[in-house]
Amino acid sequence: MKLIVGNLKMYFDGSEIKNYLDNLIRDDNVVVCPSSIHIPYFLNKNINVGLQDVSMYEKGSFTGEVSALQGVNIGVTYALIGHYETRKYNDNKIINLKIKNALKHNMTVMLCVGETLDEKNNNLTLDVIKKQLNECLDGINGKVIIVYEPIWSIGSGLIPTNEEIKNIINFIKENYNYKVLYGGSVNLQNIDTLNKVSNIDGFLVGFSASKVDEFNEIIKEVNKIWCFSTGFDKTR
Ligand code: 13P
Repeated sequence: MKLIVGNLKMYFDGSEIKNYLDNLIRDDNVVVCPSSIHIPYFLNKNINVGLQDVSMYEKGSFTGEVSALQGVNIGVTYALIGHYETRKYNDNKIINLKIKNALKHNMTVMLCVGETLDEKNNNLTLDVIKKQLNECLDGINGKVIIVYEPIWSIGSGLIPTNEEIKNIINFIKENYNYKVLYGGSVNLQNIDTLNKVSNIDGFLVGFSASKVDEFNEIIKEVNKIWCFSTGFDKTR
């Protein structure tokens, strides 16, 4: 079974939440990462929830931060870490500490890696991903899922070819032995194509996850092919 993760970023002002919750398909293999302030609404509807980022600290005087400990204490089970939009403010050492903190509290970590367009054009994609993985995962052994999310694909409508995605996922699986999701401009128009990548374990959806009808259709499309199995297995 594939995992389908919706990263709702900061798309909602709050007024859309009721309609979203009333209409979102309930599915064990769907995880939603809302703004922290909206998390309880999702938990109350028994939807799997992930944090969009976690602090490298557990608790203390860290204004504006949210910790893994706070998350698990209210029922959050996943954490998105190293997303490009937060990676801008963190180096790999900090990301490593964040992952350790999330794993300590038994969360499943979704670690994002990916290259810029410049790096892709200079054939540096695998080198960049390798460095990110080596440094972010240093000393780590636990429930981690890697998200291959090319920076140039986020919000651009551009996606790599299936062959490119397959090769990068192969590289990650062969060298690190983790499950791998793809993220970056996933939408209803391209999900059918992306779903054909044979070694993909799921998807991280941004803008298209914020439109509940489109997200539901994406979930249905992904499940169409994978409905023979029973639940996403988080183990490696
Ligand atoms: P888009 O799907 O809007 O390109 O965003 C991707 C993303 O950043 C998911 O975390």
